[in-house]
Amino acid sequence: MERTVFVNGEYLPESQATVSIFDRGFLMADAVYEVTSVLDGKLLEFAGHLKRLERSLGELQMAKPKDFDNLLEIHRELVSRNGVDQGGVYLQITRGVADRDFAFPKNVETTLVMFTQAKAILDTDAVANGIKVISIDDLRWGRRDIKTTQLLYPSMGKMMAKAAGADDAWLVEDGQVTEGTSNNAYIVKDGKIITRQLSNDILHGITRASVLRYADEAQMKVEERSFTIAEAQAADEAFITSASTFVMPVVEIDGAAIGTGTPGTVAKRLREIYIEESRKKAI
Ligand code: PDD
Repeated sequence: MERTVFVNGEYLPESQATVSIFDRGFLMADAVYEVTSVLDGKLLEFAGHLKRLERSLGELQMAKPKDFDNLLEIHRELVSRNGVDQGGVYLQITRGVADRDFAFPKNVETTLVMFTQAKAILDTDAVANGIKVISIDDLRWGRRDIKTTQLLYPSMGKMMAKAAGADDAWLVEDGQVTEGTSNNAYIVKDGKIITRQLSNDILHGITRASVLRYADEAQMKVEERSFTIAEAQAADEAFITSASTFVMPVVEIDGAAIGTGTPGTVAKRLREIYIEESRKKAI
C-alpha cells in the first residue's frame, strides 16, 4: 500500500511525489523541518512544533509556504488518509527551486513536503531496557537552535554509536554535553533533574519544554545547566527527550553503567506523566 504524501499543495501517492534537482533543500540543505508525533491517530504538541517552525523560518529569512495556515489540516488529512495510529508526521520547507548560487534567490516559492511514518513509539525494547550512548565531539554549526536539515554529522554520530555497540551519541563541546544527535540530554542526581540551559548551542526541544513543566508541577527539582560526561557517569539516572522517543532512559554512557544500569524511576515517572498529559491534549 502506497502512502499518500503532500507536496506543494497536492496530495499524491509517494511514487509520484517529486522535487526538482535544483531545489535548495537538495543542493544546500537550505531547509527546515519538524517531526510531530502521532498517538491514537492524533497529533501531539502541534502548537509547539508550529511555533518553532515559524521561528526557524524567521531566523533564516525564509518565506512561509502558501499553505502555512493550513498545516494543521494537512497534518490531520495525511494521518487520516494513511490510517496512522502511532508514529509521526515529517514536514520540510526549503527555500525553493533556483539555479545553483550561494546567495538566496529572490521571489522564489518555498517548497513544502510532508509525509507520515507509522511506527511503534509506545512500548519498544528501548523503553523497557534503556539505551546506551557514547560521547563524541560536537562538530555541528553554531545555530543548533534552528531546526535545519543539515543532519550529516548527527547521522555520522548515530553510525559511530552503532559501530561501538551503542544506540546513540551525546555531543560534547568545551568539555560539556550539548545534547544527543536528535534529542535533548538529561541526568538525575539526588532527585534533581539537570539539563543544559537553552541557547543557540542546542535545539529548544518541544518535548523538553513540556517535560520540564510537568516535572515542576510534580514538585521535582530542575536545574538548567551544562554537565560533563564524568558527572553524567556518576549520576543516579540519565535520559533523553524528543518527539519520537518522548522520555527514554539512558543506562550506559561510554561503557559505564548509570546508577543500577536499568531505567531509573524519575525517567519512568516522567515518561508516564508526559504520555498521559500529551494524550489528553492531543488534537
Ligand atoms: N529531533 N535536539 C536535536 C538535535 C533534535 O534533532 C531533536 C529532535 C531534539 C528534540 O526536540 P523535540 O523534543 O522538539 O523533538 C533535540 C527529531 C525528533 C528528529 O530529528 O527526528
